[in-house]
Amino acid sequence: MTSTVKDKFLKRLFEANGEPVSGQEIADEFGLSRTAIWKYVKEFEKAGYEIGSIRKKGYYLISTPDLVTEVNIKKHLQTKRYGKTVHYLETCDSTQPIAHDLAQKGAADGTIVISEEQLEGKGRMARSWASKSYKGIWMSVILKPELTPQQAPQITLVAAVAIVRAIEEVTALVPQIKWPNDLLVNGKKITGILTELQADPDQIKALILGIGINVNQDETEFPDELASIATSLKIEVDNEVNRAKLVATILSYLEHYVTLYVTKGFKPIKLLWESYSTTIGKNVRAVMLRETIEGIATGITDEGMLELTLTDGTIRKIYSGDIEFN
Ligand code: BTN
Repeated sequence: MTSTVKDKFLKRLFEANGEPVSGQEIADEFGLSRTAIWKYVKEFEKAGYEIGSIRKKGYYLISTPDLVTEVNIKKHLQTKRYGKTVHYLETCDSTQPIAHDLAQKGAADGTIVISEEQLEGKGRMARSWASKSYKGIWMSVILKPELTPQQAPQITLVAAVAIVRAIEEVTALVPQIKWPNDLLVNGKKITGILTELQADPDQIKALILGIGINVNQDETEFPDELASIATSLKIEVDNEVNRAKLVATILSYLEHYVTLYVTKGFKPIKLLWESYSTTIGKNVRAVMLRETIEGIATGITDEGMLELTLTDGTIRKIYSGDIEFN
């Protein structure tokens, strides 16, 4: 995953901001022939970049495709820590194990792994996650907050609030949160969050926040079984959405709300979460591993659990499960 000469050349074109970059200088610097540089230019064009050339001056970037590359994300990035290290992949099975591995090897807080496609995207409860190439945001964020493992479920709720705010800023749509971590638009799923932990008994070592967002799919691009229950931002706003900008905006809100949570506790987040919730106040069925119960969702606890009030007045706290609306 180290940067190749090709990546470095592309980065140079971006940094030149439309000014020409000398092919000869790049060739000399990296010990390549000018033909090798020309071949890279042809590869960039094939990937959707528009590149111009001026005789004796070099190559310049005219426009970029909507890729979630490091340079495209960093063009929009305004964070202090999150997204400073980007591991960009064109394809992988799932970004989650890659992020786990990097976290174990000492990756910094806020490092991200992002891929244009996943061949075996993972959802909650061992489900699969459809990750169509170049159409969504398939990203794992490595977080290393000073928290206890018991606080991990709250981070999922923090992330849900951050993603809602980011989607709102970029598209003007306001998704609703379905406990614990689905974002819906018009009742259909647009985002899923998968939180995985590396922890000692009393301290989180790393939290791998897997974020999947359906961004630019058309209706026909969802697998049959998802067609009636999933949607994309493009379908809802009737326009392509710039994925790299959305990634950068998510990272800003995530950094802001995780910091707020770590310094001020869960209360401010809980209020925001409840304001975006589609679950609270509804009659729901909670499907858990060993039982299914029905009741009114009356709130979330300070730990991030869902509180159900059953018909006999008993209050049950749900730690993990699926919620179905009656
Ligand atoms: C869910 O709603 O079930 C959670 C879906 C999480 C999907 C994301 S996409 C990026 C990361 N890599 C994965 O394999 N899964 C998560």
